[in-house]
Amino acid sequence: VPGGGKAVNLLDPSGVPVRVVHCAEPLPELPGQRPLLLNFGAEHRRTNATQRPPREPSRIQRLGHVVLETRVFARALDWYLDTLGMIVSDFLFLDGQRGRGPTMAFIRCDLGSVPADHHTLAMHLGPGTGYVHSAYQVTDLDSIAAGGEYLNERGYRRSWGIGRHIQGSQLFDYWRDPDHFMLEHFADGDLFSCDVEPGWAPMSASGLAQWGPPVTRDFLGASPSPAKVREVLHALRGDNELDPARLLGLMKAMNS
Ligand SMILES: [Fe+2]
Repeated sequence: VPGGGKAVNLLDPSGVPVRVVHCAEPLPELPGQRPLLLNFGAEHRRTNATQRPPREPSRIQRLGHVVLETRVFARALDWYLDTLGMIVSDFLFLDGQRGRGPTMAFIRCDLGSVPADHHTLAMHLGPGTGYVHSAYQVTDLDSIAAGGEYLNERGYRRSWGIGRHIQGSQLFDYWRDPDHFMLEHFADGDLFSCDVEPGWAPMSASGLAQWGPPVTRDFLGASPSPAKVREVLHALRGDNELDPARLLGLMKAMNS
């Protein structure tokens, strides 16, 4: 295995390959950015010193999470909980269809009393299968914003941001790479120990952020295209968890 250790190759119920690696060799820490010393109102932590955040690319500290789309949400969720022992931080359900169960889950590693990222994996029901985005932690809001300016100046396209999420609370900024893959810079996410019970909330576009610009069609993957229409028709015909009621519920959630 690249990076050392032993690996087991698995296939999740959506058909997404999952490689579980045990005892990978630890790598030296990446050079970091120091968090800024901030003044808050009357709380003066920085005096006789200026604030000069470097105008440079965001320096990644680590991979935070991956988001997947699946047509077999309930089966895939059970598989991750049973196979990897992960636990649910938050469920989202379609408005008026709560009785049919959740259609999105944010799940975390169960490290017992040791707090873990609110979600290492998030998964939602949809006509597509596989990668939606991956998220990389950076040190703070200035790193996100300065790094965003750096990308903007070089012609990269922001998908959505800067804002603060609700589920997980992260400060977020979403970008597209030249191959159209979505990547997220985030900071200040929630960490939960095993004691925190799952939350439940209705799925909605406006419920994705506490503040920030309105969510974009690009982020939602809602731009209509012939490929998208084919994907939806194919999903509706197949033996899976997507049916007309749920598709309508998803479309309503995207516009609410
Ligand atoms: Fe994310």
